[in-house]
Amino acid sequence: MPDIERLLAEMTLAEKIGQLNMLAAGFTVTGPVLAGDITGGVREGRIGSVLNVFGVKAVHRLQLMAVEGTRLGIPLLFGFDVVHGQRTIFPVPLAEAAAMDPVLWERTAREAAMEAARDGVALTFAPMIDVSRDPRWGRIVEGPGEDPTVASLFAEAKVRGFQGRDLASPSAVGATAKHFVAYGAPAAGRDYASVDVSERTLHEVYLPPFEAAVKAGVVAVMPAFHDLAGEPMTAHGDLLDRWLRVRTGFDGVVISDYHAVAELIDHGVAADVAEAAALALKAGVDIDMMGYAYEAGLPKALDRGLVDMADVDRAVRRVLALKQRLGLFDAPYGRGTAALDEDHAAGVRALAREAARRSVVLLDNAAGVLPFPDTVRRIALVGPLGDAPYDMLGSWSAAGDGAEAVSILNGLRAAMPGSQVRFAAGVPIDGNDEAGIAAAIDLCRQADAVVLAIGEGANMSGEAASRSSLDLPGRQRALAEAVLDLGKPTVAVICAGRPLAVDWLVGRAGATLAAWFLGSEAGNAIADILTGAASPSGRLPLSWPRNLGQVPIFFAERTGGRPDDPADRFTSKYLDVPNTPLFPFGHGLTYGDVTIAGVDVERTEITADEAFDIVVDLRNEGRVAAEETVFLFARDLVASVARPAMDLKSIARCALAPGESGTVVFSLPARDLSFPGRDLRPVLEPGEFELMVGPSADRKRLIPTRVRVLGDRRSANG
Ligand code: GLC
Repeated sequence: MPDIERLLAEMTLAEKIGQLNMLAAGFTVTGPVLAGDITGGVREGRIGSVLNVFGVKAVHRLQLMAVEGTRLGIPLLFGFDVVHGQRTIFPVPLAEAAAMDPVLWERTAREAAMEAARDGVALTFAPMIDVSRDPRWGRIVEGPGEDPTVASLFAEAKVRGFQGRDLASPSAVGATAKHFVAYGAPAAGRDYASVDVSERTLHEVYLPPFEAAVKAGVVAVMPAFHDLAGEPMTAHGDLLDRWLRVRTGFDGVVISDYHAVAELIDHGVAADVAEAAALALKAGVDIDMMGYAYEAGLPKALDRGLVDMADVDRAVRRVLALKQRLGLFDAPYGRGTAALDEDHAAGVRALAREAARRSVVLLDNAAGVLPFPDTVRRIALVGPLGDAPYDMLGSWSAAGDGAEAVSILNGLRAAMPGSQVRFAAGVPIDGNDEAGIAAAIDLCRQADAVVLAIGEGANMSGEAASRSSLDLPGRQRALAEAVLDLGKPTVAVICAGRPLAVDWLVGRAGATLAAWFLGSEAGNAIADILTGAASPSGRLPLSWPRNLGQVPIFFAERTGGRPDDPADRFTSKYLDVPNTPLFPFGHGLTYGDVTIAGVDVERTEITADEAFDIVVDLRNEGRVAAEETVFLFARDLVASVARPAMDLKSIARCALAPGESGTVVFSLPARDLSFPGRDLRPVLEPGEFELMVGPSADRKRLIPTRVRVLGDRRSANG
């Protein structure tokens, strides 16, 4: 393990800047500029880290050049976007968030880390923890949905899973919390566009998941591309340094997003590359990913006095410390040697299938079409996503191979060996071609039941993939309506990276599933749900809008002075649709019939250092086992600032056999009712609160209890 100060003292300026330079080379393209052959730069010590290279042969070849071929032998850091799996692909994050289970989230990250480390990767550019309430934004698929509490639990679980107990272990990878911050609220839902959110919303919604990631020990943070109220995040010293490092205590490395340092010129805040490099370095960006800005701009910036050597040394020190924590100095070839055993291979596919099953959200089953009864022997599978294994991986599928993914067609055939499952796409995923609808309808006529596999291609969400519409692409609606006109038992399986505007579909189809992009085991998981081999348990991690006009839509809105009242014209509502979403946050049906039998708050008055205990009795009146999720919301009824109508405070899950009763207990410390006060620092204001327990954010299904935190509200703010 080197003495970093001694090493730093030996380094030339070129070698120091080399450690701040991360270039992409290899097997995937994730940005607008490409590096080409980087071996020269590695040999000359001008490159300190590499992204988009994986596979132990390629990684160790470059590592050998750095360790054996450069003057100081400083090892390279290899980074890659292992967002929801490396080779075995798990559900996209928005889907996995629907499982509402931090234990599962950590397990899948752990397996992904093992596969990534075996491929020589030492740092993943994940978890992506950008809260978003705008499904036009393509990257909503990559994050954990609309709620900061879910996003914070997701952040903690993923950081723990990726980093494990020993960062230097050959089966651990460093995690990167991204994209800092409020990237999920771009103007017009368009990727990379400016963000204008209030300081309050920043502290109530977008910052908490990053604080959670830091508390979990995340080793890297990636600023987002956008400007926040005119200040590009890549040069946002107030948030990158004073909030992230000073106030929250982050002690890792800040890695710019792809080419983002150079793009400070395009933002119009830097006249040239020297100014761009200086702004980013001064703000606290340690590594310049694919910007070539530190390499080209820092020498000039030093000459012009825009930065000084202490600024450079501070960044280099952090990078060397990260490499040390990852064990790269002691074992530069450590990752890639620990071969994964056969148990892992079998186990990881089983975990992928479990995670996929638990990510499926049964939105509607009013006609009781699901699970398919034994009498269903002939299935017509129609729609462009019925036999689309590559699309099942979703965006950011790392080293995943679509050829190894299970399509819905193959999953159904494997699950129903005695049945006939016939497929017709009907229409392409996009475009105006309707020629195949007739053949698809013929297939449906001969079937006992129809599975309608519709939605988006994997490339219609993710980075640079915002949409101005939430409608089904192409002529899929024409196909769906032709199928629905037959009156056959029909299940709509929606595979997409965002909620789609399907209010015309729900209710006409016998059942509707949100199947997102479920990864390598998608087809098997969907078949498990359709056949009843597993009961659906997923719950929406975001509000599902009736139409685009409702966006942004989320449950934690402040009520305003004229909250929606259908009986009163002068209240906040639309003329054409209700304010409520098509399906609320937390919505998700099971095959059981679980009800909340009672809610008991043992003590309704507590002091600021105590906790409320909320006991929830549940009962499964159905004939099928169910995994129920219960949510605890709170509202601060009178506070120094207007507070959301409901804030999610906690989630609990309970498995119930048919006819079984069960109990979940929430313990809610009064401190958890704190919020950013007028100075945006956490404050707990004593007074009355409403606690609400229910199966989703649907106000009609919540059971309220009034409680009080003792003390003088007005004195709390000092
Ligand atoms: C991309 C993405 C970021 C990713 C990086 C490296 O532009 O914004 O999420 O980690 O580049 O691929």
